[in-house]
Amino acid sequence: MGSSIAEAGGFAPARVTTDVGDILDYGPAIPDYLDDVYWCYYVKPWAIKLYERPWLVNLILWGWYHGLSDAAVEAMGPSLTGKSVQIACAYGGLTNQLAERVPEGSQLDVVDVVEGQLRNMRSKLPAGARVRALRMDSSDLKVPDATYDRALLFFLLHEMPRDVRTATLKEAMRVVKPGGKIVLIEFAPCAFWHPLKYLWHLPLRVLEPFAHDIWTRPMEHWLPECYHGKKIKKTFYFGRFYQRVEIEV
Ligand SMILES: C[S@@+](CC[C@H](N)C(=O)[O-])C[C@H]1O[C@@H](n2cnc3c(N)ncnc32)[C@H](O)[C@@H]1O
Repeated sequence: MGSSIAEAGGFAPARVTTDVGDILDYGPAIPDYLDDVYWCYYVKPWAIKLYERPWLVNLILWGWYHGLSDAAVEAMGPSLTGKSVQIACAYGGLTNQLAERVPEGSQLDVVDVVEGQLRNMRSKLPAGARVRALRMDSSDLKVPDATYDRALLFFLLHEMPRDVRTATLKEAMRVVKPGGKIVLIEFAPCAFWHPLKYLWHLPLRVLEPFAHDIWTRPMEHWLPECYHGKKIKKTFYFGRFYQRVEIEV
């Protein structure tokens, strides 16, 4: 795995776990909000087992898991040449879908702060997939500037406190090359008439305490200054309940 570490740009991981395929571990602490709010979705091993069911994720997303995964993959491009990064694991088959589009000589990095998530992601990949697993905090990526051609953040931002969200968006902008692309899949500020605005947002407000931001303001509002003036394309789904945001870096 020496060459991969060198490719990471001289930032050496603290540890390399190899029993499920390499995980380059840069040793970040688990952020407080994950431990306090999301431990029962993403951190505990039983939770990872429980939610690793595409039908369940699909149910939680009101039948939109596959449509939104496809929208994410489509925006990333038909062939993921060069280097791509998926910032945070997702349940279901999203990484496998992306991995299918990585040609020989190219590479997909998947970053997550929870080792169990990276192990789970790895366990679903076919042998020989051109994917690296990096245990890092998205708000402090241990890779050099302009490393990647494209980055994907799939339903990550609404689960973050504002300061972590801003730092994560800044890091995404830093590590993607000029001319590259950042793709965000998220909830959207939905129309007043959407029934789920009342049926779903109310209970979800308890389970997802940071999501209110994303439901109430356009994405531009949460983009740090380094995004100002960038070309942004938005596509809405399910009566503006979800959005795909494509940003040219
Ligand atoms: C992408 S989000 C939500 C995905 C969506 N609910 C799904 O699974 O389809 C969940 C992931 O983000 C990771 N995560 C949260 N905060 C992070 C951070 N600061 N750095 C890296 N990964 C993080 C969690 O460990 C979890 O694996």
